[in-house]
Amino acid sequence: MAPVYAGTNVGQEKANGNNTLLIEDALNSPENYAPFANDALYRMLGQNPKIGPLMASILKEPIARWYMRTVALKDQPDLGQHGIRTACIGMGLAKALYKELKISDHELRELGVCLLLHDVGKFAVPREILYKPDSLSPEERKVIEFHTEYGLYCLNDIVPLNGMTPPKAAYVALSHHRGAKKPYPYDSEFERLSFSITCLSKAEKERIIKELLDVIGVADLFEAMSSADRGYRSKPMTNEELWANIPGQLNDINPLTISKLRNMVSTAIDQHISKDKYKKRPFNDFNPALHRRMASRLVDVSYFLRTGHPHKANIVLESLVREAHPVTRY
Ligand SMILES: [Fe+2]
Ligand SMILES: [Fe+2]
Repeated sequence: MAPVYAGTNVGQEKANGNNTLLIEDALNSPENYAPFANDALYRMLGQNPKIGPLMASILKEPIARWYMRTVALKDQPDLGQHGIRTACIGMGLAKALYKELKISDHELRELGVCLLLHDVGKFAVPREILYKPDSLSPEERKVIEFHTEYGLYCLNDIVPLNGMTPPKAAYVALSHHRGAKKPYPYDSEFERLSFSITCLSKAEKERIIKELLDVIGVADLFEAMSSADRGYRSKPMTNEELWANIPGQLNDINPLTISKLRNMVSTAIDQHISKDKYKKRPFNDFNPALHRRMASRLVDVSYFLRTGHPHKANIVLESLVREAHPVTRY
């Protein structure tokens, strides 16, 4: 049986009877569609001997655990999923560009943390706007676009934990859409806002902007456009459409960054198709039922905490974090 993307618009469209031909094609030949590419890449990177363990260990960091618990508590699993996948993709891409970026292992890990948290400012965007199925008004769009600035406020004052540097994450949260072709409202304010991140040197900020922003922008854009979870998308996007769209969304993008990612994705798709076990299993582990389960288990956590059983609460929380990260499950 062809894989079905649980909880995605592929299924919804089928139910609505719209775009019937397109949906049939997506179900029969999923490898031509962006969610397949996304899942294939995520699985390949999860099994990469460097990126998989690195991501798993990042998710044990206190700040990552706080983030994953908060997305579950706020019932925004798509945000957690987007963060994890963007982090894996960004680290994979930076690793593929090792020679060009001269990035150290420590910086690779930091990049992963920054990417996991990059959209934290969306916590401050009202749900009615963030998950609005119809098109947004200019005012609503502006509220969403301010998530970069909200991200800065969320992360800037956090004391460094376990050697990680939240100020860097704050800077990435602020600047991660800076390469977008469509200008963001903070642009004229950017220098003033970034000045408030005093723990980062000017040179570090410049390096992020000059060398890492392409990686951050491409990883974020690829994940967002190819994700099966995005509520606003009304029909599945083909791989061809995906690659035709990506360069047009970013300014002055280094073609090498895109071509490296494209190569990684083609390899991942080939691997995904050639492995029988992938064919038999639905691809999208992040389904709404899973997240509802996670949210309800947070209720158990608060019960255990209230009734004086912190140890039991911790066991449930550990299982939540494990379940939130499919890479560690397979
Ligand atoms: Fe964003
Ligand atoms: Fe994002």
